[in-house]
Amino acid sequence: MPAAKKTQAILTPTILIIFGVTGDLSTKKLLPGLFDLYARGLLPKRFRIVGISRQNFGEIDFRRFVEKTLRKNRHGRRQLENFLDALAFERGDINDGGLYDRLAGTLSKIDESFGQCTNKLFHLALSPTLYERTFKFLARSGLTKSCSDDLGWTRVLVEKPFGTDMATAARLDALLAKFFKEEQIFRIDHYLAKETMQNFLMIKFSNAVFEPLWNKEHVERVEIRLYEKNGIGTRGAFFDAIGELRDMGQNHVLQILAMIAMEAPFDLTTHSVREERAKVLKTLRPISPGDIPKFVARGQYEGFRKEPNVRPDSLTETYFRIEAYLNNRRWKGIPFFIEAGKKLGTDKVEFEIHFKKSDTCLCPAELHDHQNVLRYVLQPKESIEIQFYVKKEGFTFELEKKERTFYYERAKPPGKEDIPDAYERIFFDALAGDQTLFTRTDEVMAEWKFVSPILKNWKKTELKIYKPGWNPRRHPEGARGAAPREAKKESARDLLPF
Ligand code: BG6
Repeated sequence: MPAAKKTQAILTPTILIIFGVTGDLSTKKLLPGLFDLYARGLLPKRFRIVGISRQNFGEIDFRRFVEKTLRKNRHGRRQLENFLDALAFERGDINDGGLYDRLAGTLSKIDESFGQCTNKLFHLALSPTLYERTFKFLARSGLTKSCSDDLGWTRVLVEKPFGTDMATAARLDALLAKFFKEEQIFRIDHYLAKETMQNFLMIKFSNAVFEPLWNKEHVERVEIRLYEKNGIGTRGAFFDAIGELRDMGQNHVLQILAMIAMEAPFDLTTHSVREERAKVLKTLRPISPGDIPKFVARGQYEGFRKEPNVRPDSLTETYFRIEAYLNNRRWKGIPFFIEAGKKLGTDKVEFEIHFKKSDTCLCPAELHDHQNVLRYVLQPKESIEIQFYVKKEGFTFELEKKERTFYYERAKPPGKEDIPDAYERIFFDALAGDQTLFTRTDEVMAEWKFVSPILKNWKKTELKIYKPGWNPRRHPEGARGAAPREAKKESARDLLPF
């Protein structure tokens, strides 16, 4: 969507309604994201944020709560005070129909104060098990419909995981379809909204040295890894019920895979971009139950069962590694090793393209690992690293391996604004009505189609316990200039430390 059109979209007065406003996601991502957006001047001039929670708060308590949440901000007191002035609070239990009637009253009072029917953007920072009831109550109180035919829209932001398998995702879709049109539904995968992901997409399709070589003729394998140092924190019950594959695999990891493997979109419209992502996801080759032990590995960190609200005999995985394949012409037969885990030795999100040894190599026969590797680090510091071979200085024709790294940050012009956080982008695009960075229902379904049989047959592969701080990669991580792992192709299981 062109920038001018997006800026137009933020002129209409808007109310953002956040369910679960005192929860983890809201305090860590939503409120800071909204405040940053406000400070950049990218929220509508006239806006309100209505927070909903069971906390025994009045308006003043809520204001103090948000003030405390945003105390470490970089925008200064005046900006913060103005932002706090736009807050309103509605106390209540989401299972109680009365809450929605009160909310309807509050929203219409705000509309009156603005003198017009406003836009309404709902964000549900809730457990997916509560969606059904919430939507029904919203509809009953008339809140899923706009207050006027020609003024003001209603949109809904839905967090991941979208369902827990294909059947529940389809049910959730059917439920949403009862109350909203597709253009009102924004399915969040915050990895899509990360600046680094969009940057990668632009780099990939704008430089001849990347994408044209990314195919089965030249690539030996692709590795995608999302490593986190943190454990599950205070999300014990939630995480124990879903596990790492649903938390990170079904969505973030597969979306990164889709971005790496996708064909160039016809243009940058929402339809073209989503279509190409969806095409990749639909070609993921299902892993049959009998192949699970060969292609899938899973682990759990030591101490997970003692985390608050986790079952003492939990068999939930906190780490997985899968050898995935795509059934399409470009990638057929090329393994994509995808992995993610918690309580690992490092915080890193990256992928590597391992190229095949070139036919024209002037390298000695014993140089078995001669291979170019391109590593794209998405987090913590965006960079592109290339491993290549050069002649050793001197009187012989020996080759040596070199690594060069391009740090995106260093290429930024001085004084350039901070990179927007994913949630800023999510809110901005939802306000503008741009769904490009949100998942379409067929993408979500294709992701579940691949992941569900694995979840169903997990038991065929043993759950191994690993020590917190374990590093699934064998070479010393983090050392500057450390070479990407050598060329040996490793099965999904090989990396487990047992
Ligand atoms: C969330 C997962 O979607 O992504 C969390 O639920 C995970 O478990 C988080 O920690 C990681 O996101 P980021 O942006 O910090 O890499």
